[in-house]
Amino acid sequence: TPIKVTKIACIGAGYVGGPTCSMIAHKCPHIQVTIVDMNQERIDAWNSDTLPIYEPGLEEVVKKCRGKNLFFSTDIDKAIIEADLIFVSVNTPTKKTGVGAGYAADLFYVESCTRRIASVATSSKIVVEKSTVPCRTAQSMRTILEANSRPGLRFDILSNPEFLAEGTAMSDLDKPDRVLIGSLSTPEGRAAQTSLIEVYSNWVPKEKVIGTGLWSSELTKLAANAILAQRISSINALSAICEVTGADVDEVAYACGLDSRIGPKFLKSSVGFGGSCFQKDILNLVYLSESLHLPEVADYWRQVITMNEYQKSRFAKTVVSSMFNTITNKKLAVLGFAFKKDTGDTRETPSATVCRFFRQENAKISIYDPKVSEKQIFLDLTEPGVVDDAAAAKKQVTVCQSAMEACTGAEGICILTEWDEFKQLDWPAIYKSMAKPAMVFDGRGILEADKLREIGFKVFSIGKGVNL
Ligand code: UDX
Ligand code: UDX
Ligand code: ADP
Repeated sequence: TPIKVTKIACIGAGYVGGPTCSMIAHKCPHIQVTIVDMNQERIDAWNSDTLPIYEPGLEEVVKKCRGKNLFFSTDIDKAIIEADLIFVSVNTPTKKTGVGAGYAADLFYVESCTRRIASVATSSKIVVEKSTVPCRTAQSMRTILEANSRPGLRFDILSNPEFLAEGTAMSDLDKPDRVLIGSLSTPEGRAAQTSLIEVYSNWVPKEKVIGTGLWSSELTKLAANAILAQRISSINALSAICEVTGADVDEVAYACGLDSRIGPKFLKSSVGFGGSCFQKDILNLVYLSESLHLPEVADYWRQVITMNEYQKSRFAKTVVSSMFNTITNKKLAVLGFAFKKDTGDTRETPSATVCRFFRQENAKISIYDPKVSEKQIFLDLTEPGVVDDAAAAKKQVTVCQSAMEACTGAEGICILTEWDEFKQLDWPAIYKSMAKPAMVFDGRGILEADKLREIGFKVFSIGKGVNL
């Protein structure tokens, strides 16, 4: 029979675990939620006035629940011992070395916290995999738990992938399109599934909570991200055709999106997609396909990444060729460093790829982003371990406190994140302050090119005929 969940532990206080379990605490005042992490600095931040991640609406929820039914701690063992249900929400980065390097997910963190659960638990637990993981991870977790636990304890494994997008995490969690809970099709598996369904039913309508098998649930997470990324690569591939032919990619996307079979979302052409999930999940899918001896399937998905790399380098090359084939010592303003608006996250951000390209061309780069710290920008733009690279970067790159400061005296401006504030800049004033010809390269298609041209700018927008 399903247990009634009263205490939840979440291992991993990152972009997924933090917001997700804060929302559970907010919606379920009768459940005690403890979010733990081995990173003391991160936990201290969660307990302070400056949360470690920025998400609209997150701070309000945390402040309301913290100390009542929401706790942040580094005491992982205590949280495990007390909980009836444990979310495993640790990071699963792409492996850098060894078997599957560059493709496979590194399950080191998932495995080590699974072993921890097995060794410290003194009562039965429902263990929920929340991190994005390759298919079959649940199976491995089960084997580890069963082989290492004390006699008489039960561990039921569920897969409950998270579909929130950064920047809109809280509203996605509040009103999810669906909640997916995968379980074994045994009576015990089903009972565990019902226990977790109960938790979500405190705020998610019944018909949106979907029960599937473990494998389907794990694969759906990879599939959903791969299909979303594939739409972006498709429209970006079309943007290259538009730039040569003079067709307008926004018109094409709008008209295609009106077909109800296609739909309007995720068809915005850009300098390329970023974020911690899309690339990682597709690489995972490629690795899985190859492991299953399905090379054609692997090639199909790999092409989505290839197109994304092409899009980033195509943009950077357009900047150089438009600026008379050299940007050496030219001041370029880069507006936006986060991988999308409304987040301070820079993981896989296309802005870093483009800025690294500019560094190699010896440009002087002034970067402004409303949410990304100077420290993070330098981390993303330097090669760890390369002697003097940090010093060289400091000479080449300036991090600014406003868009105006970044643009003053520049010869070109690149829009690399679609922050709303960039639409409202004082463009006539910026124009006056710039070296001429003053150029704008809109990698996010957010500016009104005609108005900028009236001011005097030369404008390139992604996916629009090149008429600088
Ligand atoms: C298509 C377009 O739908 C239509 O808008 C365009 O004007 C002409 O081309 P059509 O080829 O007549 O229309 O049929 P469609 O329903 O699109 O199916 C095309 C093929 O895809 C069929 O073989 C169909 O069986 C297959 N299909 C369709 C799938 O395999 N899976 C699906 O989910 C949908
Ligand atoms: C994504 C999925 O949307 C989410 O469901 C999953 O749980 C995690 O991965 P996220 O990476 O946070 O979320 O952001 P998303 O909004 O999907 O954007 C990813 C990247 O694609 C961003 O760089 C964004 O700028 C880009 N993008 C998105 C486009 O270039 N065009 C679009 O039309 C949409
Ligand atoms: P995600 O985007 O998947 O949430 P993050 O990197 O933001 O990824 O967060 C994962 C968190 O998990 C990190 O804060 C990391 O310190 C934590 N973590 C990793 N392994 C363990 C572990 N064994 N025990 C506790 N916390 C862990």
